[in-house]
Amino acid sequence: MSGQIPQRFIDDLLARVDVVEVVGERVKLKKAGRNHSGLCPFHQEKSPSFTVSADKQFYHCFGCGAHGNALRFLMEYDKLRFPEAVEQLAGRLGMEVPREGADDPRAQARERKRKEGVNLLELSASFYRERLKMPEGEAARRYLADRGLSPEVQQTFGIGCAPVGWEALKRHLSERGIAEAVQIEYGLLVHHEDSGRTYDRFRDRVMFPIRDIRGRTIAFGGRVLGDAKPKYLNSPETPVFHKGRELYGLFEARQAEARLERVVIVEGYMDVVALAQFGIRNAVATLGTSTSEDHLSRLFRMVGEVVFCFDGDRAGRQAAARALQTVLPQMIDGRQARFMFLPEGEDPDTLVRREGAEAFADRITCASPLSEFLFDHAAEGRDLATIEARERFASQVLSAIGKLPEGVLKSLLLGELSRRTGVDQSRFEALVRPREVPEVESSTPPEAERGDGVVSNPQQRPGKGRQALSLMARVLQLLVHDPRLVERLPEETDWYPREDPEARLCREVERLLRAGGYRSAQVLLAHFHGTPEGEWLAGLARRELLIPQGSRAAELDGLVEHFRRHRLRPSRQEEVDSLLSKQQRGERLSQEDRQRLMVLLADLKG
Ligand code: CTP
Ligand code: MN
Repeated sequence: MSGQIPQRFIDDLLARVDVVEVVGERVKLKKAGRNHSGLCPFHQEKSPSFTVSADKQFYHCFGCGAHGNALRFLMEYDKLRFPEAVEQLAGRLGMEVPREGADDPRAQARERKRKEGVNLLELSASFYRERLKMPEGEAARRYLADRGLSPEVQQTFGIGCAPVGWEALKRHLSERGIAEAVQIEYGLLVHHEDSGRTYDRFRDRVMFPIRDIRGRTIAFGGRVLGDAKPKYLNSPETPVFHKGRELYGLFEARQAEARLERVVIVEGYMDVVALAQFGIRNAVATLGTSTSEDHLSRLFRMVGEVVFCFDGDRAGRQAAARALQTVLPQMIDGRQARFMFLPEGEDPDTLVRREGAEAFADRITCASPLSEFLFDHAAEGRDLATIEARERFASQVLSAIGKLPEGVLKSLLLGELSRRTGVDQSRFEALVRPREVPEVESSTPPEAERGDGVVSNPQQRPGKGRQALSLMARVLQLLVHDPRLVERLPEETDWYPREDPEARLCREVERLLRAGGYRSAQVLLAHFHGTPEGEWLAGLARRELLIPQGSRAAELDGLVEHFRRHRLRPSRQEEVDSLLSKQQRGERLSQEDRQRLMVLLADLKG
């Protein structure tokens, strides 16, 4: 990048520019004595508390405290970064922004390179635009008309076309003294290694210039006129183009609306252009990649809200899930992310043409907030009536919440998760902050294996945080807290896992409770007093039961059901072990066994 802007220049710039003029172009101001005043653009108000002083070259709001000079105003209002604001002010005064270290030969070379690239790309962009108007652009013109793109929108986006031949652009640029090596470096010319020949990268395509935030062409995307492959061809990575960072249409969106508040992220070039033609001018597209953190942090510097737009099919849901993971760490308070899904088989281009701008705008308005999508997605394909599904649901939501920065959104989501699962919010809070949780006494019996957790936090390291209960321990915990639940247990005891110490204890507890002598936990605990089992049961009794009264019977039924299913079907690991040991004992595995083993091993690996 270029060097620092010298302070001397900034002082000079501020001395020449008039803050009243800069603000006045964006906010309605009235002269009031020596100052100007108006409604503050930085907060909602009905009576003006925003003043601009020509003498002090300063603005100040008595309502929200916003204040600063012309540069600060541009940064805040137009959402520009400092150098961009300087460039803009300098531009209106016709001043060139000097850079410090301009004597440094390396910096000089870099800057020359940038200019060279931009010139070359601008030259190419106008070449493509010109071709579209000439007789050789006939086929492309017809294609664009068939796709319903108005001449106006073609112009706004600077659409052009690359001619059919192999060397049209190469000749054009070379005649203007641009070396082939440079054309190759900026991705316009392809060098064929074997033959040593060079030829135009883009041929016989509709050309979309990709512009940076200041409107300079930095790359191209080209679409074939028919069904040939590849449908779209993009510039490769070059010194000025990094496709994981740029968004198609962002410059045009900002041109349309200086004060962008929301941006809709769609998939394709045509989607951006079609939406713009229909008056939805805040759409941008990633360039054949999924939305990156880089994309989002750039967008959130400019706007408060991002709406992701996806196809309604499986691939669309998957892309949305990825976008969710990317956006979570960026959700500081005040930012919004929402998700919208189109009907299957449609993209924004086809849909806006079919149902019109208003209907499409309504879809944007109705896009799901992040929270809703998060819960829906976690619930997808799960029968939340079962505890296992609820546990996985909660785990997934928690892992997402764990990625959020601290803030109101995080607390609200934890609250909602608690409401949806009936588990106390403080429990979840502890789980998303594993490191701050003190070690709690283990509630695992001496020889018991560790079963599935209530909510196993994926970030939880072994030995950190609270030990989750095994499923059988949860059955016991329910019985200890609420002995009358014993009547829910099936008469037949075939659901108990064999050779499981917890299960053995549980059967004993069940037997005692059914015998009727033990109506309360105290009496039950007294029975086991002084034994390791007694201690362990006492631990369960002390441990708070997180399940509300009304859901306990269902919880118990779910647990029993789980054991029943697993009892009838040995676990995969058990099956693998038994097949492997059969093999080791020298017994021949049947064809069927071998196939089963392969499937199981693949499953376990996945
Ligand atoms: N894309 C790409 N290379 C391809 C195909 C697609 O870079 N070979 C990118 C382009 O940015 C394209 C986007 O993915 O705009 C979406 O592709 P796709 O859904 O296939 O096309 P559409 O945008 O619907 O294009 P069109 O309507 O022109 O068919
Ligand atoms: Mn399309």
